[in-house]
Amino acid sequence: MTDTAINRATVQIEAARRTSERPIVRTFFDEPTFTATHVVHDPVTRRAAIIDSVMDFDQAAGRTSHASADAVIAYVREQNLAVDWLLETHAHADHLSDAPYLKKYLGGKVVIGRDIVTVQNVFAGVFNEPASFARDGSQFDHLMDDGEAFRIGNLPAIALHVPGHTPACLAYVIGDAVFVGDTLFMPDYGSARADFPGGDARTLFRSIRRLMALPDATRVFLCHDYKAPGRDNFVWETSIGAEREDNVHVRDGIDEDTFVAMREARDQTLGMPRLILPSIQVNIRAGHLPEPEANGVSYLKLPLNLL
Ligand SMILES: [Fe+2]
Repeated sequence: MTDTAINRATVQIEAARRTSERPIVRTFFDEPTFTATHVVHDPVTRRAAIIDSVMDFDQAAGRTSHASADAVIAYVREQNLAVDWLLETHAHADHLSDAPYLKKYLGGKVVIGRDIVTVQNVFAGVFNEPASFARDGSQFDHLMDDGEAFRIGNLPAIALHVPGHTPACLAYVIGDAVFVGDTLFMPDYGSARADFPGGDARTLFRSIRRLMALPDATRVFLCHDYKAPGRDNFVWETSIGAEREDNVHVRDGIDEDTFVAMREARDQTLGMPRLILPSIQVNIRAGHLPEPEANGVSYLKLPLNLL
């Protein structure tokens, strides 16, 4: 079966590798949540996108703050960049997005995958969200479809729908780079879990193999790194070739059933991420806190004995 979106992404990556006009990527790593926020820009027009931002959150105090986003804002200003896009790869379960804060100071459209609607409906049930919580993705500025083309200045970009970790996951191919969210981790760490509501290991395998059809030289930027055993530095960049050759969960030669058996067995051993309950409630609102109650305070819920 022809995969038009992958074919177009391949043409784009090969063209970018023949020119000097490739995206410049600066990464901000948040160690408390092991999240990599990438600022991607076109060196010619200085138009930019920010991928997967982090809101600082002190869970014990219930206090949000913005030192991580402020560092990104300082960089954008110092580099004289104009932000067009605030791209989310998915509704994260391990950190809160700070897209609305970045939008307030830098502008840009907040984007996520079209299937966020599915994620919103699932978690509206989990959190017994009020009727005022919209389940149509309208908290975001734009919902992207598989194969949708967009631009960052002169740089061409394509969104790829890569479900499995969540139903709505997107990877963004920008110039010769792909931002894979939580589909793949570094080759020595493997792949993301597929056991959250709406996740599926078999679907994740197919999404990963789809990404692995991109050219070997494609630069791959991850959303997380956790340092594999034996490695003592954080790394968030690799290549499709390195993932195909060495990925401990899903390199070439590992078939779908083997991957699914491994993934499902491993997921059974994993506890819930520390920030899953606050993260999901904020991230299904595009990074906004829940509507304040009559006293002007926002509250997060803690469903008991449900997850
Ligand atoms: Fe995730």
